[in-house]
Amino acid sequence: MSQTTSHQAFSEPWARAWADQLRDDEAYRKAAATWEGSIALEAHREGEPAGAVFADLWHGECRTARAASVDDLAEADYVIRAALPIWKKVMAGKVDPIFGLMSGKLKLSRGKLAHLTPYISASKALVRAAARVPTHFPGDDAELTQASAAPSHLAPTSSAGASSNQIAAPGQRHYRTTSEGGLDHGLPVMGLWHKGKKLGVWDPRDIDFTADLADWRRLADIEREVILHLTSLFQAGEESVTLDLLPLIQVIAGEGRLEEEMYLTSFLFEEAKHVEVFRRFLDEVAEDRSDLSRFHGDNYRLIFYDRLPTAMSRLRHDSSPAAQAEASVTYNMIVEGVLAETGYHAYGSILERNGLMPGMQQTVGYLKADESRHLAYGVYLLSRLVIEHGEPIWRVIEQRMEEMLPPAIGLIHELFEAYEEMPFGLELEAFTDFAMGQFQKRMKRIERARRQSLDDLRREPVRTA
Ligand SMILES: [Fe+2]
Ligand SMILES: [Fe+2]
Repeated sequence: MSQTTSHQAFSEPWARAWADQLRDDEAYRKAAATWEGSIALEAHREGEPAGAVFADLWHGECRTARAASVDDLAEADYVIRAALPIWKKVMAGKVDPIFGLMSGKLKLSRGKLAHLTPYISASKALVRAAARVPTHFPGDDAELTQASAAPSHLAPTSSAGASSNQIAAPGQRHYRTTSEGGLDHGLPVMGLWHKGKKLGVWDPRDIDFTADLADWRRLADIEREVILHLTSLFQAGEESVTLDLLPLIQVIAGEGRLEEEMYLTSFLFEEAKHVEVFRRFLDEVAEDRSDLSRFHGDNYRLIFYDRLPTAMSRLRHDSSPAAQAEASVTYNMIVEGVLAETGYHAYGSILERNGLMPGMQQTVGYLKADESRHLAYGVYLLSRLVIEHGEPIWRVIEQRMEEMLPPAIGLIHELFEAYEEMPFGLELEAFTDFAMGQFQKRMKRIERARRQSLDDLRREPVRTA
């Protein structure tokens, strides 16, 4: 850096130096071999424009790069916008670009996220090339410090979790419900419990699949194959979340959080019914008893055969807040939030749009409602952990999200790549856009906990949509 001239970020000479780096970059060329389209990166500072660059990228080549004109910004296939301190973190390798987009740190103001997500390696190579350009950021050192510093009023309230709530050793147990304490109806999680008791009691055996069977028999082979594929992902996913939830319930019970544990009993009951209803569909509609694990690709296996069970079973011997946060991010935010909820949303809408399988449509309605409560609990749990244990837990959450998002998005791509033409008008965007919107909403909610107290959390009703 000392021998080369440093360029101001997002200036014309910076753009040219970036293009030079890309031209010599074998890793980028390979990762972006199928990439077509121009991209503009736009920086702002306190809402004011702070520079933008435009690059015309084609099949691993950077055909041109320059400071972006107004026309470039209007015509680029993709425009990514962020505050200067965020760009600085991206270029320092502290924020992964695709994670930045998913979490809303970087905004995609033109273009579809679904088109960018297969290019995780290419986007990293683009950023690494930018990071090799000696760069200075105009007067933003103070901003960066500000952006990354932890709010000072967020010291953990207790390092031991709910100290007043801890379960006593056997023999010295104190029962809260036979004392003045009673049940704590002020806890927001009680709202989920009450909803669960009313809405989570549908019976998988009551679903009428008669019309579904008739529809199934009329479908084309490729249509049946895609539904079977999706069902195999849902089925094993539901089995996995049923098998893997118990250690979390045990940890919560061990901390004496009676109300949360009460809600979690309905949570597990619902997951068990989800397993049952998909198996009924396979047995009675698809009439398929073959080994459906043939549909489970690499990303699916990484998540459901390894990361999820590992994170959940860690809780058997490690009940630390960090282990709880890692488990909940994997289970609630990734598996339920990005995958299950998104899958049900897209699946339900294609059935509806094509007027197909009314029994399954009704089922998806139930599944969505149940999952929205599960997710609300995950958001509540993670917010509570952030409030109780402060920034170290927030960092665990962010890091785990960053680790798990690429395989989660990869799994969605895996599904689409398996078919030359997707039937039913199924679109990749329907999955990724919905996943991104929901994910951002929840991340924002959890991030808000960094500035909140337990009393604030208590006053907020738990939202289920
Ligand atoms: Fe489920
Ligand atoms: Fe769930």
